[in-house]
Amino acid sequence: MLPPALTHLALLALVSVAGAVEQGELCQIEMNNIKGKLQANCTWLALSTVPSQLPKDTGILLLGSNHLASVSTSSFQYLPMLVDLDLSHNGLKSFHAGPPLLQLQELILSHNALGALPPLQGLPALLCLGLAHNSIKDLPLGAFRSLGNLKELDLKGNRLQRLPKDAFAGLAALQDLDLSNNALEELPLGLLTELESLDTLRLPGNRLRTVPTDFFPKNHSFPYSSQHPVAGCVHTSQRCNKQSWYLGQTLWESLVGVGCGSESGLGRRLLGSGDCDTISS
Ligand SMILES: *[C@@H]1O[C@H](CO)[C@@H](O)[C@H](O)[C@H]1NC(C)=O
Ligand SMILES: *[C@@H]1O[C@H](CO)[C@@H](O)[C@H](O)[C@H]1NC(C)=O
Repeated sequence: MLPPALTHLALLALVSVAGAVEQGELCQIEMNNIKGKLQANCTWLALSTVPSQLPKDTGILLLGSNHLASVSTSSFQYLPMLVDLDLSHNGLKSFHAGPPLLQLQELILSHNALGALPPLQGLPALLCLGLAHNSIKDLPLGAFRSLGNLKELDLKGNRLQRLPKDAFAGLAALQDLDLSNNALEELPLGLLTELESLDTLRLPGNRLRTVPTDFFPKNHSFPYSSQHPVAGCVHTSQRCNKQSWYLGQTLWESLVGVGCGSESGLGRRLLGSGDCDTISS
C-alpha cells in the first residue's frame, strides 16, 4: 500500500495522462462485419468536438450521446469513406452542411435540439435521414430537393403544424416517410405527388381530421401504419380494424378506398425493418 499522499500523486499523474490523450483515441475501433465497414464507436465519451484522428478508412462513425452542440461536415473531410454517421442524443443545435460528404448514406440527427431543418446540400448519396425528436416547426419549400436518392425520412416527434405542398419535392426514391407525433392539422393536396416510390407513410399522433379529396395518388395504395394503436391500420391484421382509427369518420372514409380494405393489394411493409431504425430509435 502507498501512503495516502503518494496515492494522491499517482492519481494526479493518471489524470494528466488521460487529459493528454486525444479524445478520439478512446473510441472503440472495430470491423462491423454486418456492414463490412470499419466502425468507430465514440458514443458516451462526453465529446464536445468531433475526434480528428480516427482511421482514414472509417466507414461508420457513432458519435451519439456526446455533447456536440454544433457540427459541420468539414469535420469529417478527413474520412473520405464515411458512409454512416450517427449524431443522435447530443443536444445538437446546428448542423452545417459545408464541404460535401460524397459517400454518406445514413445521417442520424435524431434526439437533438434542432429548431429548424438544417441545410442538406452536399449529401448526394444519402439514403436515410433521421431527424426524429427535434423541435423542427417548418419545412422550407423543396427542402429535400438535393436528396434524390433518399429512401427513408424520419421526422417523427417534431413540431410540424403544416406542410407546404412541395415539402417533399424531388424525393422520387423515398419509400418510408414518418411524420408521426407532430402537430399536423391538415395536409395539402399534392403533398405526395412526387413521392413515386413511397410505400409506407406514418401519420399517427397528429391532429388530422381529414385529408383533401384525391390526396392519395390514384395509383398508389398505402398501408397506414402505426406502432401505436391510437391510429392507423393494424399492420399484422388482414383487414383494417376500424376501431384503430382515431382520426375521425371523415378521414376514415377518405382513406378506406385506397388504404386498408381496398382490393388494390397493399404492400404491407413491416414496421421497424428499415436500415435506420436500429440506430435511430
Ligand atoms: C458503442 O459503445 C457503447 C458504449 O461502449 C455501447 O453501449 C454500444 O453498444 C456500442 N455500439 C455498437 C453499435 O457497437
Ligand atoms: C398502376 O400501377 C400498376 C402497378 O405498378 C401499373 O402496372 C399500372 O400501369 C399503373 N396504372 C397507371 C394508370 O398508372
